Amino acid sequence: MKPRLGLFDSGVGGLTVLKRVLERHGMVDSVYLGDTARVPYGERSRSEIRVIAKEVVQWLRDEQVTVVAMACNTTNALARDVAEHVAGMPVVGLIQAAADMLIEDRVGVLATPATAASGAYRLQIEHDRPGTVVVEQGCPAFVPLIEAGHLSTDELLRVAREYVAPLVEAQVEAVVLGCTHYPLIEPILRQLLPQHVRLVDPAIGLARQLDALIGTPLVPLGTSFSLTSTRFCVTAEPEGFATRATPWLGERPEVELVSLRSPACAS
Ligand code: DGL
Repeated sequence: MKPRLGLFDSGVGGLTVLKRVLERHGMVDSVYLGDTARVPYGERSRSEIRVIAKEVVQWLRDEQVTVVAMACNTTNALARDVAEHVAGMPVVGLIQAAADMLIEDRVGVLATPATAASGAYRLQIEHDRPGTVVVEQGCPAFVPLIEAGHLSTDELLRVAREYVAPLVEAQVEAVVLGCTHYPLIEPILRQLLPQHVRLVDPAIGLARQLDALIGTPLVPLGTSFSLTSTRFCVTAEPEGFATRATPWLGERPEVELVSLRSPACAS
C-alpha cells in the first residue's frame, strides 16, 4: 500500500512537525488536521484530551492514512494509548523521539500545563537515562498567544521570561520544546536562555522515526520543500489558519473546513 501520513494538532503547532517531515521525506502524501475549534488542548482535562485523541485519530483513519504522527505533545502525553488503539496502524510520537535525542544530565522541558502536569517527559527521560535531572515547566500563556499570531510581543517576552527562569535557576544544559507550537517562538526562547543551553526540537526525531515507516528516499539537506502533497484541514477558521501558517510554511496553504465525528464534542 502507498504510504499516506496523517498528522494532527490543536492548531498551527503541528506545522512545525510537518515541516521537519517534508524537509526530510519530500513529497510524502499527507493529511494535516488542525483541531482549531478546540485549541488549546493544554488546559483541558485528561478525559477531554482522551476523547479528542480518539476522534481525531478516527477521522484520520477514515482518511485512509497508513501512519499517524501525533504532532501534538499534549495528546502524546495523555492519550498515546488511545491513539494507538483507535489507529490500528503505526503511530509515532514526540516524547520518545525527544528522549532519544538527549545526551545531557540536566534537562528542562517547556510544555503545556497538561503535558507538564502529566510528568510524561520526566518519566520517559528518567526511564531511558536514569539519573537525569528533569525540570518540567508548564506554559499556559504560550499557545493562546501563538495562535493569536503574537510571536514577538512584549506580553510574550514577559511570560517567556517567567517560564524560562526556573530552568535557568536549575542550571539545565538542554531545553526540550515540549509543545509543537514552541518552535514558532524559538528566537525569543534562544534570547532568554544561556548560550550553552541546547534547544531540542522533538520533531527532528519524529521525522527520523518515519524513515522505516514511509520508505521515501531521504531528501538532501537544504532542499526546499513543497506543500503540493499535503491536504490541510481544520475544524474552524480555515482562512485564519492559512494566514497564520503562511510565514512558517513560506506559502499560503489551501485549507479545508471539516467536522469530526461527534458534534457534541465540537467545542
Ligand atoms: N501543540 C500541542 C502540543 O504540542 C497542543 C497545544 C495546545 O493546544 O495547548 O502540546
